[in-house]
Amino acid sequence: MTDSYLKAVDGGLVKGLAQRLGLPQPVVLRRHDPSAPLVPGPVLVVGGRPDAADDADAVARALLGWDLDVRQARGDAVPEGVERWGAIVVVVTEAKTPEDLHDPVLALGAQLRRLARCGRVVTVSRAPGDGDSPALAATRAGVEGFLRSVAKELRAGATANGVQLVAGAGAGDPAALAALHFFLSGRSAFVDGQLLEVGAGPAWDATGFDRSRPLAGRVAVVTGAARGIGAEVARTLARDGASVVVVDVPAAGEALAAVANEVRGTALQLDVTADDAGARILEHARSRHGGLHVLVHNAGILRDKLLANMRPAQWDAVVAVNLAAQLRITGHLLDVGGFSEAPHIVSLASTSGIAGNRGQTNYGFSKAGVIGHTRATARLVAALGGTANAVAPGFIETDMTASIPLVPRQVARRASSLQQGGQPVDVAEAIAFLASPGSTGITGQVLRVCGQNLVGR
Ligand code: NAI
Repeated sequence: MTDSYLKAVDGGLVKGLAQRLGLPQPVVLRRHDPSAPLVPGPVLVVGGRPDAADDADAVARALLGWDLDVRQARGDAVPEGVERWGAIVVVVTEAKTPEDLHDPVLALGAQLRRLARCGRVVTVSRAPGDGDSPALAATRAGVEGFLRSVAKELRAGATANGVQLVAGAGAGDPAALAALHFFLSGRSAFVDGQLLEVGAGPAWDATGFDRSRPLAGRVAVVTGAARGIGAEVARTLARDGASVVVVDVPAAGEALAAVANEVRGTALQLDVTADDAGARILEHARSRHGGLHVLVHNAGILRDKLLANMRPAQWDAVVAVNLAAQLRITGHLLDVGGFSEAPHIVSLASTSGIAGNRGQTNYGFSKAGVIGHTRATARLVAALGGTANAVAPGFIETDMTASIPLVPRQVARRASSLQQGGQPVDVAEAIAFLASPGSTGITGQVLRVCGQNLVGR
């Protein structure tokens, strides 16, 4: 669905008018384009000690390895001669006290006006841990509030996100670099103000890993894939090299077959609430593709009603499709050892499951439940070297949101730092990233794809 205000404001006469009237000025976001550079200009790495090799050096080395033009700033000495930064990466993993943030934060501030359109700020910090002293915990937790506030100050499609290393993880680890790469790239266009915890994860052999086809040789199942976000997930996983099984209800069979043809995958007509859904998915994936590595629980429904007016069938249907089906299918696959190698499971949550939404007690329950089971499932699949994560979309331009009346739809679109709705591909890119073997070490997380929606965290 098109956002005609965005089209009008991003260029031309209306832009000046919006500026004068103080109206939102969203811009068309920079999305993944294999022919475009990773970031739109040189990258500045801020932070680190002047006297020793450290995490800032490890990050700068990785960026150089991605063929980027990299400059480093330590203390308040910032390189001259760059008009626009494509990205600024702030490495504060070694900060121990609040005072340690002074230099890197102010160095970032001094450069923010030079951040390119759709540029990136990424912080690399350490997550607060149980054994931290109060000062250390304050410093580490403080980075979260700082990052989320910086994100709200950026304009022109620029975003700020953070890689938060948990105990045992290093800034140069593959999973930390995979997260950094995602945040810098156009794949994270609609991810803003988010911190992603990255652990060391199991050892992962990156030999022969092709970043342009990270899912080559993998078999992925996507439920609810006949349209909307699910169809885009299927396309994106196929683009990244996966063989894809698309699943949807028999009533959507025609659209499902079209998606399957488009992605050169196979279609499975199935109601995910069926008792034998897990067994049928496994049988299909094994017999048609030889295994199962990635499972995307996307099928979901709305039956909005105020709780006072909620009919039992409306509560039951939402819980059955959005939550119970995910539990039953994953449970079956784990019980019978159905996954090949390390599984990557990604489940669709929603910002409504985080912040709640009037008229959506059933939906909010189901989506918060998804977040809960994701954390528990992450512990179960860790033994297999796998991951389980959730993606929580905010306002995404789909058939579902097209049915919202005009005025609330316009308000919902502008109520985020990026001042627009996301596209299904934005959710699909986040899912593809979490499904990739490179993101091993990121597990039990909820990644919001919401343009830093102003509701919830
Ligand atoms: P959609 O309604 O366009 O597509 C959902 C698909 O799931 C449909 O093809 C439908 O036939 C299928 N489906 C429904 N019940 C099923 C069942 N029992 N078995 C198999 N397939 C079934 O929805 P959309 O917008 O693409 O959303 C996809 C997911 O993203 C859902 O889980 C939704 O809750 C979530 N989401 C969407 C947001 C948005 O703004 N569009 C925001 C937050 C979350």
